[in-house]
Amino acid sequence: MSNPSLRQRDAACIAEIGRLRFSPLSLVGGRGNRLIEEGGREVLDLSGSAGPAMLGYSHPAIVEAVEQSVRSMAGASLLLYPNEPAVSLAERLLALTPGTGERRVWFGHSGSDANDCALRVLAAATGRSRFISFIGSYHGNLSGSMGISGHTAMTHTLPRPGVLLLPYPDPYRPRFSAEEVLSLLDYQFETTCPPDQVAAVFIEPLMSDGGLIVPPPGFLKALEARCRRHGIRIVVDEVKVGLARSGLLHCFQHEGLTPDLVVFGKALGSGLPLSAVVGPSEIMDHAPAFALLTTAGNPVAAAAGNAALRTIETEGLVERSARIGKLFADGLRALGDRHEIIGDVRGRGLAIGVDLVEDRTTRAPVPATTTAKIIYRGYELGAAFTYVGLKANVLEFMPPLTLTEDEVAEGIAIVDRAMADVAAGKVSDADVASFMMW
Ligand SMILES: Cc1ncc(COP(=O)(O)O)c(C=O)c1O
Repeated sequence: MSNPSLRQRDAACIAEIGRLRFSPLSLVGGRGNRLIEEGGREVLDLSGSAGPAMLGYSHPAIVEAVEQSVRSMAGASLLLYPNEPAVSLAERLLALTPGTGERRVWFGHSGSDANDCALRVLAAATGRSRFISFIGSYHGNLSGSMGISGHTAMTHTLPRPGVLLLPYPDPYRPRFSAEEVLSLLDYQFETTCPPDQVAAVFIEPLMSDGGLIVPPPGFLKALEARCRRHGIRIVVDEVKVGLARSGLLHCFQHEGLTPDLVVFGKALGSGLPLSAVVGPSEIMDHAPAFALLTTAGNPVAAAAGNAALRTIETEGLVERSARIGKLFADGLRALGDRHEIIGDVRGRGLAIGVDLVEDRTTRAPVPATTTAKIIYRGYELGAAFTYVGLKANVLEFMPPLTLTEDEVAEGIAIVDRAMADVAAGKVSDADVASFMMW
């Protein structure tokens, strides 16, 4: 019998509950903006591994920082002893995150634990137990962060008691306008959700997993003003779209928000597990031994974080993300002339969504199988990307910020052909049956 493939071995040992896979891609390596699959074929990465691969794969700055710190590890935990990389990283994060007064940084391993920490410490420090979040939001997959999320893929788990999920106004499918959502919030405040019981609102400044939705101008600012009136804290979840991806260092800057707490993850570790919460010391210093993870703030992950933030500056990634993102989005928009299936191309910087529709007039989403087929065919043609959206009809392009102009052209040509081939029936339902993930 021939040797089993990586995919077969994976299926035999990795739990389904930790999977979200969109194509047959199985990896043995990565270099620059390419992923290397079993057998050695290189695939252009337009997914950024869902965000963390801000610098692509094996970027020299990350390799060097990790190598150096692992050769002389300053302990393995921040719980007992401070270590240089973690303290430097906290200093850097404070310097680059707008805010006033005494602030502190907490470190974790993932966006999920960081949102969990923010939620728990806010409830404890304010004595308020209600929270506001959005239908379509995704803040993580641990009990707390999942409990304030509103994604359709998570209806297997009940929301946290006391959470108010509001619709997130979607300019492309305006089922609820910004004004209607704000009016609904006012009504909730007047009736069943007393605002003085609300600790915080969790905001994605660009709703990512819910479909790459850019909020209508002024909506989040108006929400912030309403919350401020009642002492409700503003938590901005920058896990997926923060740190240069949106074409500004922080995505919330597009909205003119002044957050109380900012949550970072994904790109911060650029492949290593690392997350952070930055917030006022009166909250973040609530009590020792409150949000302990033994290996959080470990010097190797923190060294990667320092290298990632330095590289944003040295490689001008904020400007680059805006410039390459525009090129990419314009190219995808131009495909709309040939592919009726493209209803909308939206996003900020290099966080781009392509909303696929059955009909441009009704804007009815395509079935998830159609989205999956385009991703599958894209994989066969040599590019990796995924989908998001409450109806699984939005192609997500979240590539490394190091993507080049040539790679944009290559990616667009692949998407173009993948759409044409799917329209011509070259991919069957059976081909994608095992990659329909949410
Ligand atoms: C906005 C947002 N917050 C939090 C998370 C959770 O991050 P992680 O999967 O690293 O725990 C995600 C993951 O996709 C996210 O998109």
